[in-house]
Amino acid sequence: MGKDVIVACDFASAAQTLQFLDRFTGRKPFVKIGMELYYAEGPEIVRQIKARGHRIFLDLKLHDIPNTVKKAMAVLSRLDVDIVNLHAAGTTAMMRAALEGLTRPDGTRPLLIAVTQLTSTDQQSMERDLLIREPIADVVMHYAQTAKAAGLDGVVCSPLEAARVYDACGAEFLTVTPGVRFADGDVGDQKRVMTPAQAKAVGSDYIVVGRPITAANDPVGAYERCVEEFVG
Ligand code: C5P
Repeated sequence: MGKDVIVACDFASAAQTLQFLDRFTGRKPFVKIGMELYYAEGPEIVRQIKARGHRIFLDLKLHDIPNTVKKAMAVLSRLDVDIVNLHAAGTTAMMRAALEGLTRPDGTRPLLIAVTQLTSTDQQSMERDLLIREPIADVVMHYAQTAKAAGLDGVVCSPLEAARVYDACGAEFLTVTPGVRFADGDVGDQKRVMTPAQAKAVGSDYIVVGRPITAANDPVGAYERCVEEFVG
């Protein structure tokens, strides 16, 4: 599995996104499209970015009954995205159905990764709202192991959790890690961060980087710096 930097294109419109991507005349970044952009612009924005030669992580975090997720995944698979995700909390049955839906007639499919507990959920809110009483770190590892057992390819997690995920699930299980900042950069609202070089050292397969690139004065330079630190 090749290591890469995924640029979180958290823009509100296709125009803004394509204008941003126009700057990248050399190496084409792997792009993450999230809910805001997808719901605003629909599948056409995926086709447009694909047609420009970018790989795409479609970050829609599906979570519904197995049959619905299976059918939705079949649609996303036809869009030819490279990575899609879902909530491991949807259970093993949902994850298996998602894999079935994603798999194309020729046996190929996009990578499927799971969200464990959102980083916005803490121990207190998990206990109070979800009635889950185990330590949150154990819950995250349990979800990762459940995702692996269901046949998924990896998880989204903090780079600080990556080493434990590899211990629990094996080195071939992918970790896709947001929460990355340059050593001399703004942390913003991310609480627990690592630099691209540190994420590389702990073995992250893909880092997801948004504002350190999208809000930089020189986004292409910031992207290249990220690639240099993380991919080498
Ligand atoms: O701008 P920034 O680098 O913080 O962007 C990180 C991206 O990764 C955003 O699209 C954010 O929604 C996403 N993400 C995250 N933390 C998670 C899961 C996804 O920051 N646990």
